[in-house]
Amino acid sequence: MILSDVFIDEKEIRKRVEELGKAISADYAGKDLMVIGILKGAVVFLSDLVRCIDRDVGVTLDFMAVSSYGDSTNTSGIVRIIKDLDCSIRGKHVLIVEDIVDTGLTLSYLVKMMLEREPESVRVCALLDKVDRRKVEVAVQYTGFVIPDYFVVGYGLDYSGRWRNLPSVHVVVPERGDEA
Ligand code: IMP
Repeated sequence: MILSDVFIDEKEIRKRVEELGKAISADYAGKDLMVIGILKGAVVFLSDLVRCIDRDVGVTLDFMAVSSYGDSTNTSGIVRIIKDLDCSIRGKHVLIVEDIVDTGLTLSYLVKMMLEREPESVRVCALLDKVDRRKVEVAVQYTGFVIPDYFVVGYGLDYSGRWRNLPSVHVVVPERGDEA
């Protein structure tokens, strides 16, 4: 796979993350909010996002690592928990932070699992959303960018573990010789 030119640049990302932070700040003002990052893809986005949520919201952080069975560009919907939350979410307002929603299978599993733990509320914030690829309905309350069916990397997103460190989002395209 090769990296294309910048698809969403740093400036656009920063502006959108600030807007999301403002919306979240307004919605949760005066409340406590447990922000749950889905490792590893959401780490870069989450670290910028939480700094755009103002002090009227009592933010705490927790992380969950999941692995979806499938190949490098497709998930199967069968999700394995690699690292569970450290804290109970019972009675708390929860915001799941994801890097990207594709088929929705991973997120729908995660939301269902969180709801079984009896939080006060569960919402989702995703940097990117490939809405056209959706296989299952899942509500995303805060979306950074809706994008077409491209495989993207950077700003936390990877292809086979690479390119998470890039400050902008890029599309990756197959190199001649890559399997279709
Ligand atoms: P879903 O279960 O099909 O919605 O897949 C969601 C997960 O697949 C994301 O959390 C990512 O880890 C991965 N994923 C889906 N599309 C992309 C992409 O374009 N780039 C990098 N990872 C992706």
